[in-house]
Amino acid sequence: MTPIEQIFERFERHGGKDYGGERVRQLEHALQCAALAEAEGAEASLITAALLHDIGHLLHDLGESPAARGIDDRHELRGREWLGRWFGEAVTEPVRLHVNAKRYLTATDPGYFATLSPASVRSLELQGGPFSPELAAGFIGLPYAPEAVRLRRWDEGAKVPGKATPGLGHFRCYLEASLRG
Ligand SMILES: [Fe+2]
Repeated sequence: MTPIEQIFERFERHGGKDYGGERVRQLEHALQCAALAEAEGAEASLITAALLHDIGHLLHDLGESPAARGIDDRHELRGREWLGRWFGEAVTEPVRLHVNAKRYLTATDPGYFATLSPASVRSLELQGGPFSPELAAGFIGLPYAPEAVRLRRWDEGAKVPGKATPGLGHFRCYLEASLRG
């Protein structure tokens, strides 16, 4: 199977999985996130990262919604590692950093915490809570941290039950354009 077939198969087999207690399923969340990135005119690599940022949730068998049981599945690291076989850092770094981007945004944007869903607040605690001012300043200087912050805002917006989006095939071109050499 090609990389893109393997990725799509992962969504087709596991994309109906509960999304951490949210009212959308994993595949719906991924498609909404990628559609928000596309609507903002993001580059292909960042649309790809938006589609695939939570793929790490579909790569383990810790059961559904591990965060609700107090388990951090470290999905951002699982995702980065799996995707790193095919994509470069413009895709894998925003994926790896999107959890820390939530810690950054809750530390630096006073209105952001109020936008978090209850499940997102719960996982934030498991992930270490808002950054200190020092950690926030260090984070935003990392390569691809600004991209991860953009992704994280789409992430929070991509939890609308029943919202219509294009299907997976619509995003294939962005994945193809982002494949390494
Ligand atoms: Fe997400």
